Amino acid sequence: MTAEVIDKQAVAASFSRAAATYDQVAELQRSVGSNLLARLPESLEVERLADLGCGTGYFTRALNARFGQPVLGLDIAEGMLRYARAQGPVSSSWIAADAEALPLRADSRQLLFSSLALQWCPDLSQALKEALRVLEPGGLIAFNTLVEGTLQELRDAWQAVDGYVHVNRFMPLAQLQQILADAGFARWRCEVETHVLHYPQLSGLTHELKALGAHNLNAGRPGGLTGRARLRALTAAYETFRQPAGLPATYQVAQIILHKGQQA
Ligand SMILES: C[S@@+](CC[C@H](N)C(=O)[O-])C[C@H]1O[C@@H](n2cnc3c(N)ncnc32)[C@H](O)[C@@H]1O
Repeated sequence: MTAEVIDKQAVAASFSRAAATYDQVAELQRSVGSNLLARLPESLEVERLADLGCGTGYFTRALNARFGQPVLGLDIAEGMLRYARAQGPVSSSWIAADAEALPLRADSRQLLFSSLALQWCPDLSQALKEALRVLEPGGLIAFNTLVEGTLQELRDAWQAVDGYVHVNRFMPLAQLQQILADAGFARWRCEVETHVLHYPQLSGLTHELKALGAHNLNAGRPGGLTGRARLRALTAAYETFRQPAGLPATYQVAQIILHKGQQA
């Protein structure tokens, strides 16, 4: 998402509120995070690792199982961390932290993993600068993020209704690639996966976004309640996208691996 428009406190509060409902609706999140895990080099063995924007801790646990090591779970939302901690014993610790200002020593981690969290950072370059700092030479960060085209149907439908920004902004792929190229890593890879979910009704999508804590937090969103007339207009506009499987919601997911050089 783009720099000037994200309010971190609002992001933290929204995800904290969603902690108890997130796992029930996070099917896509599971799927793309698992794809990211599968992209890690098969031979990779690490002892010091962290999960940035760990949310309810699903992938923190998966990393713990994969590497047999304690995993540090970091998230900006205290509510998410409380929920993750309450899930029961796992040899992990949970710390409230902002991915753009990590409370970790330089050269202290061999692997950073982050699934669908860094698109919430106002400044992705700063988050990658922090990743580069805390990674040991030869370490890597595997993360995924959403790029332009994500929730395009919802954006277009709102555009037809009132022209306001009701959907989070996601950066164009070319901009992301430029940021990756400029981030100071020795090697990088970025592949985009397209996922299209289908819903019988628009309310299925909007309720899901709310339960995930991922509804619109960009500046420019109109305040106040959504009036019935506007909702009817939105529903009608979204109906124009209907497919045999239902109302589509497209996600463009960039899967990225960055390697820190031995000399860095
Ligand atoms: C969509 S959830 C993903 C959670 C988990 N990684 C998963 O795949 O289930 C995004 C998470 O990123 C966290 N987050 C957002 N901005 C952050 C930031 N600047 N620093 C750390 N975490 C952040 C949110 O609080 C939320 O828990």
